[in-house]
Amino acid sequence: MSNLKQDIAEKIAQTILTVYPDAQGLPEDLSGLLEVPPDPKMGDYAFPCFKLSRVLRKGPPVIAQSLAEAFEAPDLARAECAGGYLNFFLNRGNFAKNTLDAVLSAGDGWGAGEEGAGKTICLDYSSINIAKRFHIGHLSTTVLGNSLRKIFDFLGYKTVSINHLGDWGTQFGKMIAAYKRWGDKETVEKGGVDEMTRLYVRFNEEAAENPALEEEGRAWFKKIEDGDEEALAIFHWFKDVTLKDAMRVYDILGVKFDSYAGESFYADKTAAVVQELSDKGLLKDSDGAKVVDLEEYGMPPCLILKSDGATLYHTRDLAAALYRMNTYHFDQCLYVVAYQQDLHFRQLFKVLELMGYDWAKTKMKHVAFGMVSYEGQALSTRKGVMIYLDELLTKAQEKALAIINEKSPNLENREEVARQVGVGAVVYSTLQNGRIKDIDFRWDSALNFDGETGPYVQYTCARCGSVLRKSPDLSGVTPDYAALDNDEAQQLLLLLSRFPETVRDAADKYEPSFINRAVTDLAKAYNKFYYEHRVLEESDPAGTAARLALTKAVRNVIRTGLSLLGIEAPERM
Ligand code: ARG
Repeated sequence: MSNLKQDIAEKIAQTILTVYPDAQGLPEDLSGLLEVPPDPKMGDYAFPCFKLSRVLRKGPPVIAQSLAEAFEAPDLARAECAGGYLNFFLNRGNFAKNTLDAVLSAGDGWGAGEEGAGKTICLDYSSINIAKRFHIGHLSTTVLGNSLRKIFDFLGYKTVSINHLGDWGTQFGKMIAAYKRWGDKETVEKGGVDEMTRLYVRFNEEAAENPALEEEGRAWFKKIEDGDEEALAIFHWFKDVTLKDAMRVYDILGVKFDSYAGESFYADKTAAVVQELSDKGLLKDSDGAKVVDLEEYGMPPCLILKSDGATLYHTRDLAAALYRMNTYHFDQCLYVVAYQQDLHFRQLFKVLELMGYDWAKTKMKHVAFGMVSYEGQALSTRKGVMIYLDELLTKAQEKALAIINEKSPNLENREEVARQVGVGAVVYSTLQNGRIKDIDFRWDSALNFDGETGPYVQYTCARCGSVLRKSPDLSGVTPDYAALDNDEAQQLLLLLSRFPETVRDAADKYEPSFINRAVTDLAKAYNKFYYEHRVLEESDPAGTAARLALTKAVRNVIRTGLSLLGIEAPERM
């Protein structure tokens, strides 16, 4: 991995000690202070001297001036002083060679690391609800979680991705009651999740008139809980039907899980949790229900048991947290869930802490994301404000196919490329903005292929591939890196050299959008380079070899970045 920043920081530290041998209390690592100047004309890196001013008891401009004069590292960079800043201009030839050597020798692993070795991260994402059709309200969690898993894998962590299915609760009793009264096997097999929803809606409508139905629903749920054969068979069948639909979506997206242990998995593990809470003196009666009082912490009580003894979402999440710790011994457990559930997770973590599990304070993390609306309206199945994922992905693939048919009618694997590009558009636009931003879903932006989009980045990557395919064999030629001594190439090299840092930032902040930015910047910079410079120049094999090396490095890194987002990069499109 290139340690350009580190190298410069070390040189600065040395220079400070030469100029100010008595200096004390300097920051340990100066690399954190290095900035990227807003305008490339001001250099490739800038070092503000304001923090040093206190330690050295001199004005920042004086310090900057004296350091600029003494800074000696011609192979690395030259320094200029500008006010209180030290601006660094990299030695372009060396920088190009070092960067390209490093990137190309990493293959598709530029930016990968081992810092996660020996550490386990559980990621709870997607976590769809049984008997509900997979809709855009679960798109963010699915693609965010998938991307985070890939990022952590890339950094050497062992990841456990968990689909914490919403498959427990009285609604399943109601659904069975409705099915027994009005449903039949064939219609459910054919209608799938939609038919289950219809049954459930009808149940609620009729129960409003006829309260005895509620009793029937409860009785069926009790049967599920007690392991009644018929009840379980119907329940599992509902689950299979839902999962079969969801799997189609996961397959198109390329999303995978290590575990589908959902809420029902913990049904037989909640009693022990309730016992433990009670043994630890944490349970309180509240109108017949059992709760953990959290008033002291400014939160409403955490409901553990209803007055009829039924467990709740929290109870099962407590059991799940303990199970995951005991099973995976995680170093982090991430919950990629909308911020509407912020209180739920704060309560959950607090209760675990009160139970004496200190790790809840440091190892559990709610990775929250913004709300999804559709053209300004809150999602609602009932009001028809809803977009289903299968529908969205189908449209995206159709659009991609239409464009491919028009622009590249001779492409061989058109259907496959259309899938990659359609998914690329949807995934990219979902991850593009910081995760906490609300998303107002709009068809035109989800299916946009121009400007800062997945397809644009994919297209640039394929363009690099086509340049490489057209190149003559220059394996015996030593690249002339002076050919890269121009602003466009240097900008690309800088972006390449910063990519490993971006991956780490994305991991630290759980922010795949940083990687969207990185691949988009690379794509734009490459297109600029491509328009201003001829890559293949017959009369100049050594320069061509350098430009090809740059092209290959860009292709590899874009491909890596896209794959960390969960987007494939077609060879040709
Ligand atoms: N199924 C829930 C929902 O759709 C999300 C579950 C998140 N994970 C968890 N362990 N609570 O809202």
